[in-house]
Amino acid sequence: MSTNQGVPEGTEITITKPDDWHVHLRDGAEMKSVVGYTATPFRRALIMPNLEPPITTIYQLMSYRNQILGMTSHGFNPFMTLYLTNMTSPDEVTRAVADGSVKAMKLYPAGATTNSAAGVTDITKIYPVLERMQELGMALSVHGETSDPSVDPFDRERVFVENQLQRIVDEFPDLKIVLEHVSTIEGIQFVERQCGNVAATITAHHLLLNRKAIFVGCLRPEHFCLPILQSENHRLALLKAATSGSPKFFLGTDSAPHNKHAKHNLGRGGCFTAPVALGLYAEAFEQAEALDKLEGFASHFGADFYGLPRNTETITLIKDPCVVPLEYPFGGDWVVPVRSGGMVQWRVK
Ligand code: DOR
Ligand code: ZN
Repeated sequence: MSTNQGVPEGTEITITKPDDWHVHLRDGAEMKSVVGYTATPFRRALIMPNLEPPITTIYQLMSYRNQILGMTSHGFNPFMTLYLTNMTSPDEVTRAVADGSVKAMKLYPAGATTNSAAGVTDITKIYPVLERMQELGMALSVHGETSDPSVDPFDRERVFVENQLQRIVDEFPDLKIVLEHVSTIEGIQFVERQCGNVAATITAHHLLLNRKAIFVGCLRPEHFCLPILQSENHRLALLKAATSGSPKFFLGTDSAPHNKHAKHNLGRGGCFTAPVALGLYAEAFEQAEALDKLEGFASHFGADFYGLPRNTETITLIKDPCVVPLEYPFGGDWVVPVRSGGMVQWRVK
């Protein structure tokens, strides 16, 4: 990592308008509070389905998508995901492909994260679904963590990748798979070893923070996410992968707002980054002296992976350090962002 001060303030970079390939918009009043932070700087986004109740059918999905469209302008295109359960029928895949807005089906191992109780308890139960997805070219979006309570929290991704994801890849070699919010060296190496049909998203918080951020001064709930932040060697491996120019790694913020009650009293995992996400990514790429690699990561590789055209609009980022608000309104409550009260070095012009 570079120790210099980076590029001068006032520096601008113009890139193809980016897409966010992994975001939680929530619903109702909460969504209304946050959706603009995604819909303004991003042209498209892949919306996660872990609502209460989860989006398990195409009919629920269409209604959720309409809710999003009702709160955003025409310039924003939300792509959707369906939540896989033990009971999902292969015909749901066929319906999802026909819908056109659905770009992935989401595998949450049951109990692994927020609203995952209805997730998959045993991957063999969804083999018929995965078979149909492979046949029809529908991507599998994976929350890659074991929920086995005997596994150390910092080993959950590694154990899942070694035991579960490897099996999926072996059984379904042509299935398109995204290891979401990859957080470990082992996750990165796994993705690098596979063919072009296996990729990963990387969040801004995993690029900039290591596990010390959870405990700076006091316990910092706004830095608790799943998969959990790892040690510095893992962070550096993520930064190297993101800035490598490899099309296997692309932007997915996993911005996941929770109100203060849910964070403090229920211990919910999720980092809220949407309002400053592009600034944080630019900061990470600047740190790695790789600002020239930001456009591929943020704006090209995800679209290429999903077989979609690249965006034609552009967006300009300027190095103009500014203070991040302590908290943002969220439904009737508040959400604390990453960098709360601190400085972010870049912003959208
Ligand atoms: O940190 C996370 N928050 N990870 C997830 O997988 C879910 C998300 C959420 O929905 O809050
Ligand atoms: Zn997520």
